[in-house]
Amino acid sequence: MTEHGSAARAGGSAGNGRHADQASWWRSAVIYEIYLRSFADGDGDGSGDLAGVRSRLPYLRDLGVDALWFTPWYRSPLADGGYDVADYRSIDPTFGTLADAEALISEALDHGIRTIIDVVPNHVSADHEWFRAALAAGPGAPERDRFWFHPGRGDTGDAIPTHWVSNFAGPTWTRTTNPDGTPGEWYLHLFTPEQPDLNWNHPDVGAEHEDVLRFWFDRGVAGIRIDSAALLIKDAALPEVPASPAPGRHPHVDRDELHEVYRAWRAVADSYDPPRILVGEVWLPDPARFARYLRPDEMHTAFNFDFMARPWVAKELRESIDTTLEAHGLVGAPATWVLSNHDVTRPVTRYGREDSSFAFAAKRFGVPTDLRVGRRRARAAALLTAALPGSLYIYQGDELGLPEVEDLPRELLEDPMHFRSGGRDPGRDGCRVPLPWSGDRAPFGFTEADTAWLPQPSDWAQLTVERQAGDPGSMLCLYRTAVAVRRREGALHDGALRWLDSDGDVLAFSRGADFVCLVNLGPEPAALPEGSSVLLASDDLVDGRLPQDTAVWLRTARPHRSAQIRSVPMKE
Ligand code: GLC
Repeated sequence: MTEHGSAARAGGSAGNGRHADQASWWRSAVIYEIYLRSFADGDGDGSGDLAGVRSRLPYLRDLGVDALWFTPWYRSPLADGGYDVADYRSIDPTFGTLADAEALISEALDHGIRTIIDVVPNHVSADHEWFRAALAAGPGAPERDRFWFHPGRGDTGDAIPTHWVSNFAGPTWTRTTNPDGTPGEWYLHLFTPEQPDLNWNHPDVGAEHEDVLRFWFDRGVAGIRIDSAALLIKDAALPEVPASPAPGRHPHVDRDELHEVYRAWRAVADSYDPPRILVGEVWLPDPARFARYLRPDEMHTAFNFDFMARPWVAKELRESIDTTLEAHGLVGAPATWVLSNHDVTRPVTRYGREDSSFAFAAKRFGVPTDLRVGRRRARAAALLTAALPGSLYIYQGDELGLPEVEDLPRELLEDPMHFRSGGRDPGRDGCRVPLPWSGDRAPFGFTEADTAWLPQPSDWAQLTVERQAGDPGSMLCLYRTAVAVRRREGALHDGALRWLDSDGDVLAFSRGADFVCLVNLGPEPAALPEGSSVLLASDDLVDGRLPQDTAVWLRTARPHRSAQIRSVPMKE
């Protein structure tokens, strides 16, 4: 790399000294997720790239984010949006070069922004040299031991080794053809056949990943996001999934042995100055099992999908906030607040539906959606999450209030989830449509090419960065102001949340001595506590009261537990 100094600067003295406590910046950071293909195109081929991000760093600085998380940028056939990595030490040519990545990491730091990269340890691409060697070497060869090759069951080996169900629907085994053309062994893939699962019992697998971490930490990245972090270890006996597996004994989810992997990674991360951070993608229903990944010698944080999956119902959100804070408190880790990501139906769309809950494997589409309501709720949700204790994730485009694009032509869809489910799952392309930057017509400044790799709806002319930056009532301005206020309010960093007494449809809590957040999810407007002044509201107050689907941040004189926050019938 050109500038060795960057490595030392990562996480240690990011740019303008915005973080009071450099060592624990991640505890309350605002982290922006970049889905590289769809952020900004710098080379005019219709697909986003590193040059595009470099040209838009001032936008990210103005948004006020502390770090960027990049979904995989490595060489990849892109069978699953880059989550099929062929070579961890090179950048996919559609995104740029290693030198571009190094320059980006360094330039982002100059703006006070750290870089987090994605590591995908559960599987590699079928194009990875290890898998190619394994296929070429044939049954019984040691090259196959880095994966899960297995003879089929039955006399002819025709029967699948297990009936585990793929996270992308369908079977998890694909049969190979031997080098001599005869039907061969099967190999395991919890996702697509283009993503063979690694065998974490093999010593090469752990050693290689620790080396990959060092490769990128040496280049100045501040941390990693760990893909499918609870899936790596499999029961080598390959049993079927029991009806109710004992905790830690499911054949391929959340096995107890996983913690050793993350302890080893934490040791690598801690060997750097400043320490690098580990963020896990951990989808687990049990908060106690989830929190085990966040013990002090394992990951720093993990995505809080429980909150994201809840419907827009006060009781549900409050329950999620409570269980989240309780489970994290047991291990001393900060929570994360995530409204969406590149796998999830956009909040503006989700919250505009009668059933506003989310489930990865049961995404809905084509159901009646009121985008006006959805946008209002997404604005309130932005203020709610930004006021909660912990770190905050913003998925690119949520700060613009982009809706899910539900009418992409089928021939342009790429997501294997859609195809493997036989079309039952809408897929995730609709949340990955390129960002609208400027102008009145697609591709809205995203690319110099005539069209972006996925077409943007024409009415996104209203949602461009250019248009919103000049409109104080826009989603973009709300996000910018919220992030700026959050930064300067010490009470919004690490520290407790205290619930205030309120009606059931109103979430009301204080942070620190004089900061209060109220969110009204019910039909009756809510009165503000006496003597409070408004710092920021997601929508206009009505007669000094907080209407439905609105959040407000207040400065109050005495935010005591006894503060009465009551909904007031509209026509009193
Ligand atoms: C994670 C990623 C998702 C990917 C999957 C397989 O869930 O977020 O996009 O398809 O892992 O790697």
